[in-house]
Amino acid sequence: MKKYDYSLMAPGPVNLHPEVRRLLSEPMIHHRTPEFDKILAETLNKIKLVFKTQEPVYLLTSTGSGGMEALLVNTLSPGENVLCLVSGKFGERWAQMAKTFGLNVEEMIIPWGEVVDLDILEKKLSEKNYTALLTQACETSTGVLHPIEGISKVLSRLEVKNQYRPLLMIDGITALGALPLPMDAWQIDGLVGGSQKAFMLPTGMSLLSFSKRAQERFETARIPRFYFDIRKEQKANAAGETYFSSNVALIKALNFVLSEMATKGIEVLFNENQRRADFTSELMSLLGLKSFAKIRSPSLTAIQMPEGIDGQKVRADLEKKFNITVMGGQDQAKGKIIRVGHMGYIQDHELLHFSEALYEVLQTHGMKLPLEKKELLGKLSHWLKNSL
Ligand SMILES: Cc1ncc(COP(=O)(O)O)c(C=O)c1O
Repeated sequence: MKKYDYSLMAPGPVNLHPEVRRLLSEPMIHHRTPEFDKILAETLNKIKLVFKTQEPVYLLTSTGSGGMEALLVNTLSPGENVLCLVSGKFGERWAQMAKTFGLNVEEMIIPWGEVVDLDILEKKLSEKNYTALLTQACETSTGVLHPIEGISKVLSRLEVKNQYRPLLMIDGITALGALPLPMDAWQIDGLVGGSQKAFMLPTGMSLLSFSKRAQERFETARIPRFYFDIRKEQKANAAGETYFSSNVALIKALNFVLSEMATKGIEVLFNENQRRADFTSELMSLLGLKSFAKIRSPSLTAIQMPEGIDGQKVRADLEKKFNITVMGGQDQAKGKIIRVGHMGYIQDHELLHFSEALYEVLQTHGMKLPLEKKELLGKLSHWLKNSL
């Protein structure tokens, strides 16, 4: 990528790896062929590396939300009690989805930008039995990372007290592949990721897995389901196929991305995301800006805009004048933040280009900046070299 090409630095979709771009332009092959069967088998095997599970992982042709729906409809029945952590837009949506399926949903509202308080959660869960607990790992609308391991420990304590252990359902759409979410070790019962995030692919595939305990509910769950009935996929995968037409192009590209992850080591990839998040901390600190999220996810940073500066205009100018796409805030955070993604194929020169662009745009919008642009870029270049 040349210096001033387009940079997609949103919290998904993300810049594609050059090899993914090449693979996506290859001629189509049919999915019921030995050639594709081999790719599918390799992919379904390698994907376990990211989920860190012994259980099967499924690839569905749907956006991430379809995977969230699949977690609910395959394990739950109308009228069951579920607790949904709502700390932003995506929590709101999951609660709404669960209500649509007739679940008895209680929302635990967490102010935007804040992290779940584990003591409050434990108290809430002790009050009555919930069949499932739904939460985002990273709430993309605020950039917050929730303590999934801590939540799982809270659930283990309920079990010790002889209380029912709710199924732990995690929307890991902006977390899976970008940071550790070891499904088996943390006793996660349902986990979903999205292709357009840390997997560096276009939108259109959800990736999900169920614990043994969740799988036991496939036969008894009474929410109606057809396309997302995972039992069909389970049988088809066991026979080396997908039930519906396979998403050939994305699965081929995913196979490549997973090989890269396996060769580099998944931890190396986590570190690369973290390094870009740390770079953004450095940029914020040099410019006198703050994070909106109390506890930040390594997959994105929500940068709070200074008083009087409209984040929507900053976002638009970055795109129009500098060919960089970041996202603005949604709903109550609209205009107050810009959200910068750290996932995908982002090179160091793009980080510097973004920093320069942000400097110029903030200056144009009247922010008094604490240092010269040249000094900022010098310091950041130095930081990048030292952090390799
Ligand atoms: C945390 C989270 N959950 C759910 C979604 C919805 O995913 P999709 O748009 O792929 O359906 C997103 C999308 O950005 C997300 O970030």
